[in-house]
Amino acid sequence: MEKIVDRLNQRFQGSHDVPAVLDYFLNHFGKTLGFASSMGAEDQVLTDFIAKINPQTKVFTLDTGRLPEETHELIDQTRGHYPEINLQSYFPRPDNVEKMVAEKGLNLFYDSVESRKLCCYYRKVEPLQRALSGLDGWITGLRREQSESRRQTRLVEFDEDNGILKINPLIYWTEEEVWKYIRQNQVPYNKLHDANYSSIGCAPCTRAVPKDGSVRDGRWWWENSQHKECGLHRNNREVALEEA
Ligand code: ADX
Ligand code: SF4
Repeated sequence: MEKIVDRLNQRFQGSHDVPAVLDYFLNHFGKTLGFASSMGAEDQVLTDFIAKINPQTKVFTLDTGRLPEETHELIDQTRGHYPEINLQSYFPRPDNVEKMVAEKGLNLFYDSVESRKLCCYYRKVEPLQRALSGLDGWITGLRREQSESRRQTRLVEFDEDNGILKINPLIYWTEEEVWKYIRQNQVPYNKLHDANYSSIGCAPCTRAVPKDGSVRDGRWWWENSQHKECGLHRNNREVALEEA
């Protein structure tokens, strides 16, 4: 598998040609590729491309139950804007959330990194596993520029956690390229971006970023930056360290 992944990365090394990348993978994998959309700016760009290239692709969002109202508005707006797309919402299992809240409270994420990761596990990671079941690969909107921990992320990876391929077509794009595309193509986007929210997750765990801050400063802002991943995107080094 590593050889195939290396070959695919060589083929698209440094590529900013997102339609070419998507065209290649959507044509090779057909219905066995899914796209995970958080409804963030990057994901809206990918939705727009996917609507043009292969609108039959499975597009899903993980609705944690704690999303901001603006994200819900955008989900409906996106459905209306791209009626050809099949956008599915996955929710956490009620029994998991009921047990967690009974034991640790509604806002457990502020108590410790462990509690925060538990909440992310029940509200995001477990639903992701269900959404990916039966797929050979998933597409994400990750970009290298977003954080230190994403600097080495490759366009194609083998996702050890889920045992399938992960394709990150925007990995080489800059924030400027994302917004240029959104404006030129009138892509719908989350209103919170206009209020200095650069990266948007759950309401209680996201806030606006100060002018000189970096993209992910508004996510889990009370935690040390090395923890700022929710379990959807552990890189292979992190997996190895946690399993050691
Ligand atoms: S997170 O791990 O910190 O939440 P981030 O918000 O940067 O991730 O998003 C990176 C990519 O992860 C998105 O482009 C998207 O592919 C996927 N993703 C993150 N959150 C969700 C979500 N709620 N639903 C679906 N995909 C998501
Ligand atoms: Fe829970 Fe916050 Fe993670 Fe959302 S981002 S799943 S509210 S800890």
